[in-house]
Amino acid sequence: MVPVREDTTAETTGRMAIPAPRGEASAILVDVLQGVGNPDSFRSAAASLGRSYAPEPVRMLHDDDVQLTLTLLYELHLQGIEGVDDRWEWDPRLLEARAALEGPLEAAIRALAADRVTRARAEFGDDVVRALWDMTAPTRAPGLSDFMASDADDEQFRELFIHRSLNQLREADLYTFGIPRMAGAPKAALLEIQIDEYGQGRLDRMHSRLFASTMRELGLSDTYARYLDAVPAVTLATLNALSYFGLHRRNVGALMGHVCAIETTSALPSKKYSAGLRRLGYGTAATLFFDEHVEADSVHEQIAVRDLAGGLVADRPELVDDVLLGAAACLALDDLLGEHITDCWSRGRSSLRS
Ligand SMILES: [Fe+2]
Ligand SMILES: [Fe+2]
Repeated sequence: MVPVREDTTAETTGRMAIPAPRGEASAILVDVLQGVGNPDSFRSAAASLGRSYAPEPVRMLHDDDVQLTLTLLYELHLQGIEGVDDRWEWDPRLLEARAALEGPLEAAIRALAADRVTRARAEFGDDVVRALWDMTAPTRAPGLSDFMASDADDEQFRELFIHRSLNQLREADLYTFGIPRMAGAPKAALLEIQIDEYGQGRLDRMHSRLFASTMRELGLSDTYARYLDAVPAVTLATLNALSYFGLHRRNVGALMGHVCAIETTSALPSKKYSAGLRRLGYGTAATLFFDEHVEADSVHEQIAVRDLAGGLVADRPELVDDVLLGAAACLALDDLLGEHITDCWSRGRSSLRS
């Protein structure tokens, strides 16, 4: 059974509650953030954890302690953590610890994305627009969204939305970091997308708000990060890759590649999620988030690939590989999470932590 709603607030803003630690590093960090731990001990713990993944970085995507630690460190730059002094955001010891984990994180992301990037480069060379369309084209094999449309029950929808809630309740926020880091046509293209993501300034149309409504309709809490303790490392890894791209200016190409992959792979699955919810008897308050994405993202995908990625690479040709890396990483991590969910369900198990 997934945890059901414990509150009825429609607020999706607010700080992340302190989660339960998942190992030594996250335990020390939680103590540090609460003012009782030693930041130097945390820095050492993170450094040795980071070193342990140097030979085989991809494994760290499944390490709960690493992924929770990174999620907390990144959250210091986003909405913040309940009861935690905002000055920890720029504490050099915490930044050093984060860097020690980001080394293997980047290596893991690169390893995971390598096949897709190499294939795209071999086939399309510098033509990033054609490469992105090809990389994100729908596959014929039935995926998770097909299962959700035709077979999934309420409980499985709740599980899927819990995984997605960590990012969806702050939808679009990480991409906003791209705005001050670009100029000219790609900046205008990103803004055109972001304005829609934020409901064109209308609170009730903000995509994060629409997702909050879906959560409530399914009996779930819409409180920001409410389900942090419930999601496994692989879910956190998808968030952390996006934060890693978003918070470093040097990753702006990857960040824009990531937004391209999100926009180009959204409309079709959204249609299927909406159909699945309607099959189970849910109404517009539950499906509007997906209905909106069917429409908006068939426009956004054009802007993202052609104007944003194409425009960025026209201005800065050296970013081709970064853009492809960001898109490939987004797709590969999404596959990893999808495999985890379908694997658990095929064994009759929950895909969430108990
Ligand atoms: Fe959206
Ligand atoms: Fe969109």
